[in-house]
Amino acid sequence: MKEKKKGFWSEAIRVTKENDPAARTALEVLLTYPGVKALAAHRISHFLWRHNLKLLARMHSQFWRFWTQIEIHPGAEIAHGVFIDHGSGLVIGETAIVESDVKLYHGVTLGGTGKDKGKRHPTIRQGALISAHSQLLGPIEVGMNAKVGASAVVVTDVPAEVTVVGIPAKVVRVKGKKDLERITNLEEQREASYHSSHL
Ligand SMILES: CC(C)(COP(=O)(O)OP(=O)(O)OC[C@H]1O[C@@H](n2cnc3c(N)ncnc32)[C@H](O)[C@@H]1OP(=O)(O)O)[C@@H](O)C(=O)NCCC(=O)NCCS
Repeated sequence: MKEKKKGFWSEAIRVTKENDPAARTALEVLLTYPGVKALAAHRISHFLWRHNLKLLARMHSQFWRFWTQIEIHPGAEIAHGVFIDHGSGLVIGETAIVESDVKLYHGVTLGGTGKDKGKRHPTIRQGALISAHSQLLGPIEVGMNAKVGASAVVVTDVPAEVTVVGIPAKVVRVKGKKDLERITNLEEQREASYHSSHL
């Protein structure tokens, strides 16, 4: 049987309650979480963008940037069930893709390097954690359930189920374990892929 697609509001309430022990009721989530407001507004600006009302879409998203301090370009593709905590200073670029159950904190940038054309912003796969003030730049992919540490700068793909920290961000855990052999292998692969894509 086909699984029923969950609605935006029920998913917003679910992820907020799951991720923030301070969230007590659905009403509190709907009224007091800037991330929920920004994501709801983005659905409208994305609709306008897709229907070629691009200036109106940009104006709508800028209006909500003023109220929430969260800037999401109307072109970005964001699934239901994304959780934004605090949110101030969060910037999501035009060609970014964010899948469900991703957690984004304040000060995060899903931005471009200024050197790429077309798809030039990150893709964040299901369940990834993007910690406060981390900067993810370029058309990179962060794999399922990966964790990006606070204030990391990420310019290369991040495999699924790993933790990366630092500047530039390096793998420090694989599925929560300090498995040095796997970490070294993954880092060699990441370095090779970075150099081949920057020839
Ligand atoms: C990265 C993070 C998600 C933890 O992931 P984890 O897989 O549990 O990793 P660990 O805590 O085991 O840390 C792994 C290593 O990275 C280091 N580390 C953790 N976070 C780091 C960071 N932000 N920058 C640099 N190093 C960091 C740890 O000291 C540890 O070092 P070691 O290998 O020398 O022991 C977490 O540390 C983090 O940054 N959380 C921030 C979440 C956030 O934004 N909160 C804001 C709420 S308002």
